[in-house]
Amino acid sequence: MSNAKILPILINPNPILRKKSTQIRRDEIKTKEFQRLCLDMAETMKEKDGAGLAAPQIGRNIRLVAVKTEDGAVCMINPKIIKKSWAKELGDEGCLSVPDVFGRVKRHKKIICKYLDKKGKEIKIEAEGLMARVIQHEIDHLDGVLFIDKACDIKKLT
Ligand code: NI
Repeated sequence: MSNAKILPILINPNPILRKKSTQIRRDEIKTKEFQRLCLDMAETMKEKDGAGLAAPQIGRNIRLVAVKTEDGAVCMINPKIIKKSWAKELGDEGCLSVPDVFGRVKRHKKIICKYLDKKGKEIKIEAEGLMARVIQHEIDHLDGVLFIDKACDIKKLT
């Protein structure tokens, strides 16, 4: 997008990454500042080659995440998992805020997630596999949780 800024990413340990993020008010969504933030987060995620990015990672404790999809970056405002499969699966994860560390995390295979889009419209999506994993990882960020809190077989690249 035009003139989007690449934002610096906070690295663990940083207390902002451990704070619970607050809900975004509907009337904030339409502001220029907020729309700009959505663009900048999407651009930052692409530039850093992340599968997702949560606002605390760029220093804002608000419930906003960007997720990479086949149709490009999608911003999810106040995302909430409203249904999840009993079945879980282990998969590899990493995080831009925990560089060079990888581990395996158990996540729900399928979820239904509800959020507001950039226009403030309520969206409900069903996701499975990698997309479900990314959404769960990003929502954890909004609650101050990092994947290393849950991972097994943690490996550090040196
Ligand atoms: Ni992450």
